[in-house]
Amino acid sequence: MPEQKTILRALKGEVLDTPPIWMMRQAGRYLPEYRATRAEAGDFLSLCYNPELAAEVTLQPIRRYGFDAAILFADILLLPQALGADLWFVTGEGPRLSTITDQAGFDALKPVDEIHETLNPIYETVGILSRELPKETTLIGFAGAPWTVATYMIAGRGTKDQGPAHALKDENRPVFEALLDRITEGTIEYLSKQVEAGAEVIKIFDSWAGSLKGDDFDRYALDPAKRIIAELKARHPGLPIIAFPREAGDKYIGFAKATGADCVAIDNSVSPDWAAAHVQVDGCVQGNLDPRHMVTGGDDLVRETRRVVAAFKNGPHIFNLGHGITPDADPDNVQRMIDTIRDGQS
Ligand code: CP3
Repeated sequence: MPEQKTILRALKGEVLDTPPIWMMRQAGRYLPEYRATRAEAGDFLSLCYNPELAAEVTLQPIRRYGFDAAILFADILLLPQALGADLWFVTGEGPRLSTITDQAGFDALKPVDEIHETLNPIYETVGILSRELPKETTLIGFAGAPWTVATYMIAGRGTKDQGPAHALKDENRPVFEALLDRITEGTIEYLSKQVEAGAEVIKIFDSWAGSLKGDDFDRYALDPAKRIIAELKARHPGLPIIAFPREAGDKYIGFAKATGADCVAIDNSVSPDWAAAHVQVDGCVQGNLDPRHMVTGGDDLVRETRRVVAAFKNGPHIFNLGHGITPDADPDNVQRMIDTIRDGQS
């Protein structure tokens, strides 16, 4: 049967007249309906672990905008929690976790086969979505990449330069590598269950890949991605996978080939023309409008949206932002972006 879903066609390398569209963090605080459902759930984590409400917020941007893909509503930090870390969110500040800084901290983690006890509601959300999404909408499951997840597990919070994780890597490499391995193995099991529950595409978020330099990038960003992708594709032949080594710069070049990813998501620190010439030559790319345009709007939004579409028009492309949409974004600007892409309107 010929593939109908536009995202799946692009991921197979097809060049479409109009790129399919979705947005990182498309279910989020910029939407009043999201804020209402989150209030109903009580807090962010309760929302993630409530399959009906998590499915509801996943569907909200699909109803409002008709995006070509829905991304499971969850968080990359649920896996650390399933591995035994304490996790909570401080309003207005972000995530907090118990920290892992030595062998004893690592030894306290749970084995990988116990993660599903915590993560079962997430698979249930995927199941609901695969039944309820419009037939043309692709369902994307996701996880954090091991390095990015490790940066939070080591520091206990988001950090500007990932200093604590770099320190553990440099001062206690055996514990650092054991942690990365545990996360890698947990990620494979977590993503595999998402696929069994109905996820059609997997995306791996390495938000802090850019702080790994030289050999460290290859060992701790590229190699774990390659291992996860190889194992998922062995278990689920034909599964399309998007990798997002954010701010990888020159390391974007060849990343898809080296890891086996079907698509590389590009952040907005590189120009779309550069990414077309150096990354899209190997296959599908996703990106990369600066999310700030969702706040500022106006003629700049239209011009820059057109620039991204034009740069990638000769190869397979999924339109997205270069990073997540922010809570201060204006929902009308999202509609304007979509109209610009689909109708060439302004
Ligand atoms: O993209 C989506 O809409 C799907 C759901 C999703 C969330 N987080 C929901 C969320 C996805 C794919 C993520 C990934 C994620 N989470 C990443 C990688 C992508 C990236 O943005 O770099 C990271 C680093 C996290 C960790 C995390 N979660 C942080 C640092 C924060 C706080 C910052 C913030 O925006 O508040 C979160 C919270 C979070 N995750 C929210 C959402 C919608 C906001 C929570 C709220 O409603 O208050």
